[in-house]
Amino acid sequence: MTIDYRSDTQTRPSKEMLDFMFSAKVGDDVFGEDPAINELEGMAADMFGMEASVFCPSGTMTNQIAIKCHTQPGDEVICDVASHIYQYEGGGIAFNSGASVKLLYGDRGRITAQQVLENINADDVHKPHSSLVSLENTSNRGGGSCYDLEEIRKIKKVCSDSNLRLHLDGARLFNALVEKKESPKDYGQLFESISVCLSKSLGCPVGSLLLGKKDFIKKARRVRKVFGGGMRQAGYLAAAGIYALKNNVDRLKQDHDHAKHIAEALKKKSFVGEMLPVETNIIIFAVKKPWTAASFVDKLKESGILGHPISSTQVRLVTHLDVTPSMVEKTIDVINKL
Ligand SMILES: Cc1ncc(COP(=O)(O)O)c(C=O)c1O
Repeated sequence: MTIDYRSDTQTRPSKEMLDFMFSAKVGDDVFGEDPAINELEGMAADMFGMEASVFCPSGTMTNQIAIKCHTQPGDEVICDVASHIYQYEGGGIAFNSGASVKLLYGDRGRITAQQVLENINADDVHKPHSSLVSLENTSNRGGGSCYDLEEIRKIKKVCSDSNLRLHLDGARLFNALVEKKESPKDYGQLFESISVCLSKSLGCPVGSLLLGKKDFIKKARRVRKVFGGGMRQAGYLAAAGIYALKNNVDRLKQDHDHAKHIAEALKKKSFVGEMLPVETNIIIFAVKKPWTAASFVDKLKESGILGHPISSTQVRLVTHLDVTPSMVEKTIDVINKL
């Protein structure tokens, strides 16, 4: 038995999800004629209380489309240094939008309203035009940390006062919503655009959604086409999203409990160094010498447990839909014996 904690993207669609996908009614979505995609886009928009949404192949694409729509070449995007949009999207902010970034050093991927306020450039010809703030909730590199909704409200006020747009990379927003008992509508009111992934904790094989106002989504559809993301009978994939939004959201609490149990076992071991607080489904911890992250991951692999070294000393484990309670028990057993 292999237990795969490398990422929550490692899930396989369940039989029920596959049956639902096979029964989808599909059409050519570039013509706007795919009933399953139209249903998913409408369902997500209603859920967040936003006007519209567009289905895309990946979270990278939804983020990059949003940045392209919100900025002009030469503009500056304000975000945390650990943001996925900056660290892990291939330099797409510069490549796709010709924009630069103002990196803030937040707390586990989360920035404050005060930091944003202090980093908006003056209206000065020497300075790039600050046009967009991007937040990430939960923060991947921050170890699945969740924002405080009150702080986001303050950030929104700073953005509104200075005429900046606010985007949310909500690849794992549903983890935050379930953990903090918040509603999607709380978020829909605060952001000009929200990206959510269906292919991470929600267990779909493919897909992300970008949400916003009607005019924004109209523009986003044009950019999606330019980026090569216009899909045809992709309703089979959208059906997985419909299934996931109906069935796989509330259960995320189980993934968080699993992560906390594994973290407790790790904390008892003398070879485990600093661990980021475990708030949702991501565990990031350091291993002490003589272990390196790579050698520790190799050791776990001998017992069929897969983890991900994210630096020379830090290991990341991510729980998800395909990690069962008995797998967690086995993992704790292996850790106890190390
Ligand atoms: C926070 C965050 N945003 C965006 C993405 C990009 O998603 P995708 O892999 O679908 O492009 C990821 C992927 O891991 C992520 O963790």
